[in-house]
Amino acid sequence: MEFRETLARRHSSRAYEATPVSDEALDTILAAGRAAPVGMGEYGTVHLTVVTGSEKMAELRKFFMASESHDPLYGAPAFIVVSAKPGTVGTLDAGAIIENMLLAAADLGLGTCFIAGCLLGTKDPAKLRSILQIPEGFEVKSGITLGHAADSAPAKTLAERFSCTRL
Ligand SMILES: Cc1cc2nc3c(=O)[nH]c(=O)nc-3n(C[C@H](O)[C@H](O)[C@H](O)COP(=O)(O)O)c2cc1C
Repeated sequence: MEFRETLARRHSSRAYEATPVSDEALDTILAAGRAAPVGMGEYGTVHLTVVTGSEKMAELRKFFMASESHDPLYGAPAFIVVSAKPGTVGTLDAGAIIENMLLAAADLGLGTCFIAGCLLGTKDPAKLRSILQIPEGFEVKSGITLGHAADSAPAKTLAERFSCTRL
């Protein structure tokens, strides 16, 4: 897909088909994430966790829905989480990594949504880390839902987006 078309196609999908994401698509999206810049080139401070499979996704959903009234993962069949070591620029790293993955998924025609609220707002981060098997010394930063989108979003014009000053 032409790059500008990929940019225009990326939007947050909040409904997904049950169809799993192929391993090939996952590999492409993970490779895009791992091509992202990382502060000071300290690659050892960042980690990706990929959740697929209905059982693990159900466990995660059950965890979130104990404190939320809706499924914050929107029924997606896959979820990718970025974690980082505390005291680093890991939150910024996560943003860069996630955007690469969102665009790679859009390029493949897959739906995504940037997910931070339910991860950062959890009252039980230790249990979340345990369910996600996050390595010792890392904390969860943000993630993306991934799957075949079952919704569509009208394209936004630049005027509907945030402002920009050119000096
Ligand atoms: C840092 C960040 C955190 C976000 N967290 C969530 C989230 O937890 N849940 C959610 O549904 N959307 C989340 N979003 C998606 C935004 O709501 C969405 O990108 C925004 O409304 C613009 O829509 P678009 O992605 O379709 O362009 C997040 C986006 C960003 C950049």
